[in-house]
Amino acid sequence: MQASGQHRDTSRDGLRNTVEAVLLSGFRPFWAFVNRTNWLARIANRLIVNNAVLKAPCRPLALSTQAPYTNWATLTDRTWFNRYLPPAPQDRLPPVAEVASLFKLRPDRPPVLSDRSTLLFPSFAQWFTDGFLMTAADRRRTRTNHQIDLSQLYGLDPTVTAVLRRRSELPGEKGKLKSVNSGKGEWSPPLYDAAGVRDPTLALVPEPTHLPGDWPIEKRAALFAFGGERANSTAFTAAINTLFLREHNRICTMLERDNPGWDDERVFQTARNINIVLLIKLVVEEYINHISPYWMRLLADPTPAYTARWSRENWIPVEFNLLYRWHSLVPTSATWGGTSVDLAGLRFDNRTLLQDGLVTALAGASQTRAWRIGLFNTAPMLDVVEVASIQQGRGNRLASYNDYRGHRASPDLFRRGPDRIFCRTLCRGVAAALGCAAVDWSDGSRRRVLPRADQSAAFPASLSCGDVHDGRHGSDRENRYARRSLGT
Ligand code: HEM
Repeated sequence: MQASGQHRDTSRDGLRNTVEAVLLSGFRPFWAFVNRTNWLARIANRLIVNNAVLKAPCRPLALSTQAPYTNWATLTDRTWFNRYLPPAPQDRLPPVAEVASLFKLRPDRPPVLSDRSTLLFPSFAQWFTDGFLMTAADRRRTRTNHQIDLSQLYGLDPTVTAVLRRRSELPGEKGKLKSVNSGKGEWSPPLYDAAGVRDPTLALVPEPTHLPGDWPIEKRAALFAFGGERANSTAFTAAINTLFLREHNRICTMLERDNPGWDDERVFQTARNINIVLLIKLVVEEYINHISPYWMRLLADPTPAYTARWSRENWIPVEFNLLYRWHSLVPTSATWGGTSVDLAGLRFDNRTLLQDGLVTALAGASQTRAWRIGLFNTAPMLDVVEVASIQQGRGNRLASYNDYRGHRASPDLFRRGPDRIFCRTLCRGVAAALGCAAVDWSDGSRRRVLPRADQSAAFPASLSCGDVHDGRHGSDRENRYARRSLGT
């Protein structure tokens, strides 16, 4: 399949980021040795994590979306989003619809595919973020508990968790979540019956968000009683939640077997903690390492946090909530059981999942190429979501991308200066000394320096106007316009 050939513009990364990138994304044999040497890997992991986290100011942040000045609520009330930068004027920005057009697929250009991620990656990302990124009806506020606690499965509060549990002291039942079995395995109970009526014993389980009121009864009847209000979003997110349901109940079986004296409560609580640690291990060691440009494999080692000055209680910032919307990764169609199906058709519809089973869903996701994150690359069904995100950014009066770069000690995107010249000269020198022919820092033909970075590790990086103004994504006019629209 055709590779996209599009890469993030690194020419304005600044000296420090560039040196770090060269060190961490080069020297592969050295990092392979570090990865193999447990004690060395832990030290390197600590250094890399601390260095990355300390690029942004440490919490507590003085501001939240509650007010443009510090007050008791901005310091304590976590029903508001935290925020890094104070509200900025929005009066000179172009209309939302015009900015939204920057995300839309161009009719004359095919979507750009990722050269290393499958649909499993965005499906997992969507499902994972649905556990802790939750905007409230007042879009300056949030309903999250700010924890990575598998609320997609267990619910946001103990009353929801309680109705999802079997609460049984019978042998083989202790600690388990409610489930039903079919020939295709174990599933969460249905949220609605065959007539489309909600199960009253599950009344506290949240209604799936954005589920249209007139949703067909047969599709409604295939929705699961999940703790998370968005876990039914697509058959793929439902599949991942089901995997964690099965894992919870499997862990319970093992715990009960090994600890016959434990009651239902203890088995449940211990299984939940183990399941959360499994999730975090997956997130750090598979998901983050998948998008990390480094050869060093990051570890899910909690010990750096024990003493780090950045280690504070979680409080999701509005900026994080907005930048983690990687919607352009989502393709329009997916492989399912060897055929191609329209992804929009798998929205709020788990019938094929129930019929074909988890393996078919997860294998299909793994056989489908994700799209590449970036402008002009969002599937039409998600255009409306991009609009909602822009509006939320405006409503919260976010500052410009360039302001945030400054905040994280990254150079201004458009200022040319000694830093840039020095940086490029240094990198050419290092590259030449290492005989690393792939390094080309010239403006015209930026090739990849970071061997594993082609996923564009983060939304802001992909959204960087470098991606736009180097002419790879759009015409000159579009690119100039994109720069203006992004307020940089
Ligand atoms: C088929 C795939 C997807 C669908 C149908 C979908 C749908 C949606 C919808 C309808 C919203 C609400 C927008 C709003 O009102 O502001 C949303 C928000 C969001 N999406 Fe997606 N999304 C998908 C994939 C993804 C992926 C791949 C990610 C990657 C991390 C993601 C992350 C988010 C985040 C973080 C939010 C904000 C949640 C909040 O603040 O409440 N989504 N999505």
